[in-house]
Amino acid sequence: MKKILLTMTSVAILIASHTASADGQATYKATCQSCHATGAAGAPKFGDKAAWAPRIAKGIDALVQSSIKGVPGTAMMPKGMCNACSTDDLKAAVEYMVSQSK
Ligand code: HEC
Repeated sequence: MKKILLTMTSVAILIASHTASADGQATYKATCQSCHATGAAGAPKFGDKAAWAPRIAKGIDALVQSSIKGVPGTAMMPKGMCNACSTDDLKAAVEYMVSQSK
């Protein structure tokens, strides 16, 4: 029973995150997750509330700016290494990561 509930919950979460920001998720999966899924190179890990809280506190606009310009001196390159991404793509990816990490 517990297992069935767990499965149903993850399906619900999957559906919810999909409808929330499908494009952001696609960009995240295509590029950002190579660092943000594991926290490689000191990246704030996807879903890690403690790592994201102080960043989220700066406001979504500041985070979007960081994703556009990168964070100098770190592995966070301009556009998060997604050179084909538009500002809207980056914004959606940041919103997706933030929504799953708070
Ligand atoms: C090569 C690894 C790498 C990739 C790929 C990457 N990031 Fe990052 N990201 C980092 C690291 C490292 C940091 C932490 C920088 C620091 O010390 O503040 C970071 C931080 C961030 C932050 C927080 C910035 C802040 O101001 O606190 C955002 C937002 C972010 N990344 C978005 C993205 C997005 C969106 C993508 C994909 C388009 C992406 N990242 C791809 C390594 C990466």
